[in-house]
Amino acid sequence: MASGSSSVCRPHVLMLPFPETGHINPLMDLAKYLSSCHGFLITFVNTLYNHKRILRANVGHLPSDHGLDIRMVGIPDGLSEVENRDNDVADFVKVIENVGAVLDELIRNIASECPHPVTCIISDVTAVKTIDVAQKFGIPRVAFWPPNASTHSLICHARHAASVGEFAAEDFLEKDEVVSFPGLPPMRGRHLPWAVGTKQEAQSIFKSVCRNVEALRHSEWVLCNSVYELEPTIQSLLPSGYSKVCPIGPILHADLLQKRITRENQTTTGLWTEQNECLDWLDHQSPCTVLYVSMGSIVLFVKQQLLELALGLEASGVRILWVLRADTCSPDCFPDGYIERNAKKMKIVQWCPQVSVLSHKAVGGFLTHCGWNSTLEAMAMGIPMLAWPHLADQFLNSSLIVDEWGVGIHLGEGFVRGETVEAKVKELMSQESPVRGKALQLKQVITRASIEGGSSFTNLVKFVEWLKMNCE
Ligand code: UDX
Repeated sequence: MASGSSSVCRPHVLMLPFPETGHINPLMDLAKYLSSCHGFLITFVNTLYNHKRILRANVGHLPSDHGLDIRMVGIPDGLSEVENRDNDVADFVKVIENVGAVLDELIRNIASECPHPVTCIISDVTAVKTIDVAQKFGIPRVAFWPPNASTHSLICHARHAASVGEFAAEDFLEKDEVVSFPGLPPMRGRHLPWAVGTKQEAQSIFKSVCRNVEALRHSEWVLCNSVYELEPTIQSLLPSGYSKVCPIGPILHADLLQKRITRENQTTTGLWTEQNECLDWLDHQSPCTVLYVSMGSIVLFVKQQLLELALGLEASGVRILWVLRADTCSPDCFPDGYIERNAKKMKIVQWCPQVSVLSHKAVGGFLTHCGWNSTLEAMAMGIPMLAWPHLADQFLNSSLIVDEWGVGIHLGEGFVRGETVEAKVKELMSQESPVRGKALQLKQVITRASIEGGSSFTNLVKFVEWLKMNCE
């Protein structure tokens, strides 16, 4: 199936992301790169629910509208009508299991309808069921690891330590105790990536992340959206027997791809409609004066926290572009008159074109939840960060941002008062802030990795050559 069934073989990659923005976006960037820069055919598979959301949210901006051969497909996720598909990590995990298992019907249909059979499956690291499907059809599977190499390493070390009885994931959940693994910043137990939800939920997430890293040995490549120079030693410290990841990031920054993207031909494939008018608002602000505030796609606030944040941002006197997703806020969240009195110096949108925002000259800082995509996007643009992690890998990322790379300052953890927000925003946005210079230096490092001869560029070229070889 992988070769020979068509006289002219064209690489055809089937991609399957975890059903959540932070995983869909970088895999779609890879799809755009392979299609626009190398002419590959891509079948991009989402759950039917997300597929419909994407079509609704991006009318006129989908890859096919811009001539890219990326076919967006939706397949059933196996959940019942009433189950939560938007904000529940446990349900996301269930969905990826279900979807991975029903891919074979799709692959059979493609083989009977399309002159170019699937030559490679690139699926999220969590989609371990795709390994069986790939083996059944004799197609190579590549795993896609959206976070950084440090997160991968943390899980490998914890799994190894658990297997020799030196670590019990569940013991650390509610504790302040510090866990240390080689090459990684020391972390409190409750900040470990799987410490989400109840003790039982966290235990089951730990089991599934361990299973995911074990399964990596059945993948031909493990692509990682990071940059070698950011974490140069981390992989040499992995316990033996664990697969290494191959850093190719930031994928969106890939040299060739960047040269082909303009404001006009941008394709969007997110779950929310981007409110591009915020770019016009930025056009009217002075350089480096705006703080961009966004908490990614899944962090939620209690009303009191939102209020403190709003008051702190206002008191800082800084100009703000604030993404408040529709599911995080209702109109009664703010004090009376707040929106009106801040109308000039604050722009609030429900979703924005984040990469364009971060690369806008008016933006001088980013208050972020430290999701890995946001972190890497900000570093690629040289924007210093105010780090406010909430869950999963965000605590590790925040330590790296502040203590390892020096491109941000900590805002706090958990509930944060308005006075703290005010003081930290002023500190970050001050032109003398030492993190500003560091952020610009790191931007150079990341840019060098993405251009010809750079580490990520070279890894991507090797990977593309390998994809082509599968067709010979
Ligand atoms: C989740 C986890 O929270 C994160 O810790 C993990 O690393 C990846 O999965 P998410 O919370 O969505 O991701 O954060 P992040 O990784 O930062 O991804 C958000 C993506 O949405 C980014 O690519 C960002 O550019 C995009 N975005 C965000 C927009 O395009 N517009 C917005 O208004 C906000």
